[in-house]
Amino acid sequence: MNIRAISLVVIALVVAGLAACDKQAESPLKKVTYVDDVGPILEEHCAGCHLAGEKGAESSGLLMDSYESLMKGSRFGRVIEPGSATTSSLYIIISGKARLTVSMPHGTEPLSDEQIETIRVWIEEGAIEN
Ligand code: HEC
Repeated sequence: MNIRAISLVVIALVVAGLAACDKQAESPLKKVTYVDDVGPILEEHCAGCHLAGEKGAESSGLLMDSYESLMKGSRFGRVIEPGSATTSSLYIIISGKARLTVSMPHGTEPLSDEQIETIRVWIEEGAIEN
């Protein structure tokens, strides 16, 4: 790559970064719901392993086939503490806030910042079945 191509790439990355910041700043303002926002993220990125018979569900007991089973948590207890994302193990795991040996989703792309923020806001707003 020549200098010109490299600087174009750099500019593109900066613009993409700014756009991502913008979105993050906006998301807490909109109402987050389980049905429209959180459920679809979990279904797309997590349910593959967290359904009966799959390895995430088998090893942790955490099922994500419904709001009820999500709130019931794993065999070690609740993974969501309504009103407190930072003490919810599900949020801690997806956000990489703690230096953990496990991260979710296992072995695949992490969630985007926007998806993580969506889940954070939903938990902070009480993790209701809305
Ligand atoms: C490829 C399979 C796979 C995917 C995809 C996956 N998980 Fe898991 N998950 C596991 C396995 C396996 C465990 C058991 C712990 C371990 O082996 O690391 C687990 C454990 C967990 C736990 C810990 C439960 C506890 O209390 O011990 C949480 C929380 C969790 N997953 C959340 C998620 C979330 C949220 C997603 C989607 C963003 C997700 N997982 C996607 C396989 C998966």
